[in-house]
Amino acid sequence: MQLRQLGDVQVSAIGLGGMPMSIEGRPDEARRLATIHAALDAGVTLIDTADAYHLHADEVGHNESLIAKALKSYGSDASDVLVATKGGALRPGDGSWTLDGSPEHLREACEASLRRLGVDAIGLYQFHRPDPKVPYAESVGAIRDLLDAGKIRMAGISNADPDQIRQAQEVLGGRLASVQNQYSPAFVSSRPELDLCDELGIAFLPWSPLGGISGAAELGSKFAAFEKVAREHDVSPQRVCLAWMLATSPVVIPIPGSSRPETARDSAAAADLTLTADEQAALDEAVGVS
Ligand SMILES: NC(=O)c1ccc[n+]([C@@H]2O[C@H](COP(=O)([O-])OP(=O)(O)OC[C@H]3O[C@@H](n4cnc5c(N)ncnc54)[C@H](OP(=O)(O)O)[C@@H]3O)[C@@H](O)[C@H]2O)c1
Repeated sequence: MQLRQLGDVQVSAIGLGGMPMSIEGRPDEARRLATIHAALDAGVTLIDTADAYHLHADEVGHNESLIAKALKSYGSDASDVLVATKGGALRPGDGSWTLDGSPEHLREACEASLRRLGVDAIGLYQFHRPDPKVPYAESVGAIRDLLDAGKIRMAGISNADPDQIRQAQEVLGGRLASVQNQYSPAFVSSRPELDLCDELGIAFLPWSPLGGISGAAELGSKFAAFEKVAREHDVSPQRVCLAWMLATSPVVIPIPGSSRPETARDSAAAADLTLTADEQAALDEAVGVS
């Protein structure tokens, strides 16, 4: 598996997004564990989660607990796996997502995530989404304090615009390790953030890289250019999409979500798919980023 730099560690170029295993439509536990184990078998060493990846109000951290269990029950050494979690979003249990970016909440959320993950320090802790009720510098300041206190080893942000990326980098004293924004063929408006991360040498983690849980299956039918390249290589259009992202910049580390071992394996194999310059240019043009 190809490796990429995320802060001061190297992780697999393709990560695993844990969300589909804990929210609406999630599979049973045996399939969840099999999916995570399949990703690990394929060389994945980055798993993205959040305390808010759960369905019912009384199961905050469902996905974090699942990942901790999967790592513990994995037959081989999983000590090199970076678990990236987030705080600052909540699910009240009615299907909605809400925000609390207050320093008090982030402190408490981090402690709870530490307990669920069963670690002394969280590998990568990301501020989930700016909370309009709280000044951004205050929320990121809480993440900086967690870093200084050794509760988290690396700090990241998510759903941030270029100004917020620069502000976070300043508040964190140059220690911003990653930015996680939505980016896919259907959603390229985060390209300025991707380009800024490339310029600053900060890892960029595209979320919903395949178009999201409900859109991923249609990637090939919606984007003929991806289907065409997929046919030429005899691989899935989803794999082509991830390879295209990897070729965009060395800071890009996609985190496709999976709820089945088959898709986890197929996505991980994107790290071994090399596209020609012409194919890359055609895909760029098809999504309007050339
Ligand atoms: N920071 C944020 O605000 C935020 C927001 C949303 C998501 N995220 C993170 O980003 C991760 C990825 O986003 P996402 O899960 O929403 O969307 P996604 O990765 O675009 O799509 C997920 C779906 O893609 C399917 N899939 C994965 N690999 C495939 C392949 N090789 N071939 C065909 N289908 C494939 C999976 O199907 P199966 O279910 O059948 O396996 C899964 O349901 C999440 O899991 C989460 O960790 C972060």
